[in-house]
Amino acid sequence: MIRGGPRRRTIAATPKPSAGAHAIPSLDVSATARREELKHLLMAARQCTRCAELASTRTSVVFGAGNADAELMFVGEAPGANEDLQGLPFVGAAGKLLEKLLGEIGLSRAEVFIANVLKCRPPGNRDPQPHEIDNCRPYLVRQIELIEPRVICTLGNFSTKLLRGRPEGITRVHGEAEVRTIGEHTARLYPLFHPAAALYTPSTMETLRADFTRLPAVLALPAPPRPAPVPVLATEPAPPVAEPAQAEQLGLF
Ligand code: URA
Repeated sequence: MIRGGPRRRTIAATPKPSAGAHAIPSLDVSATARREELKHLLMAARQCTRCAELASTRTSVVFGAGNADAELMFVGEAPGANEDLQGLPFVGAAGKLLEKLLGEIGLSRAEVFIANVLKCRPPGNRDPQPHEIDNCRPYLVRQIELIEPRVICTLGNFSTKLLRGRPEGITRVHGEAEVRTIGEHTARLYPLFHPAAALYTPSTMETLRADFTRLPAVLALPAPPRPAPVPVLATEPAPPVAEPAQAEQLGLF
């Protein structure tokens, strides 16, 4: 899953808070530069207080972790208690299952990037609230723009509805790859049942495993064509730029 050879592509730099929607500069960004931007985004997320309740109850901001140059990205729902304590996504039972399923198709956790819709744990593991999803969306969109995965597996209802931009639930759309543009990046979305749901329901486990076995074929599809750029009319402010992070020290990417 490590990409072959350096890539150069044009993406928008993380705008400063004062920059309007029309002032997003385009840059040629190498893998190194993209990793640097990801570190800035990490630092911005770690200081985020957009959701007052989550900011006051979290132990850590669970930004995401893995290969910053991954072809395959997973997007779950929100950190749970273990993730909040360790600052890493999917470290509990659901994460172990995810690693096992990855292993069954010859992939390791280190080769992919794993993130969530919310970067902070909702108290008591309650569902993410719509305003929290809205507040956190710019971080996820920017992560996707910087990592540029070829395939994004949404895990469960929240990430599937958010990234498809459609209301259909995971039961209807799992296992069907489709091209979607998220921010400035076009990828194949491949919705999957959430591993936590599979832990409790054998039939869901069977379906999740069957969908996983088709993932290598989805990864082998050619990169989806980029649609013609459309002018950005309005957007939420991007996360503010912060001091460079020490992501390597945190073992995040
Ligand atoms: N469930 C999620 O959706 N994300 C995690 O990080 C852990 C469990």
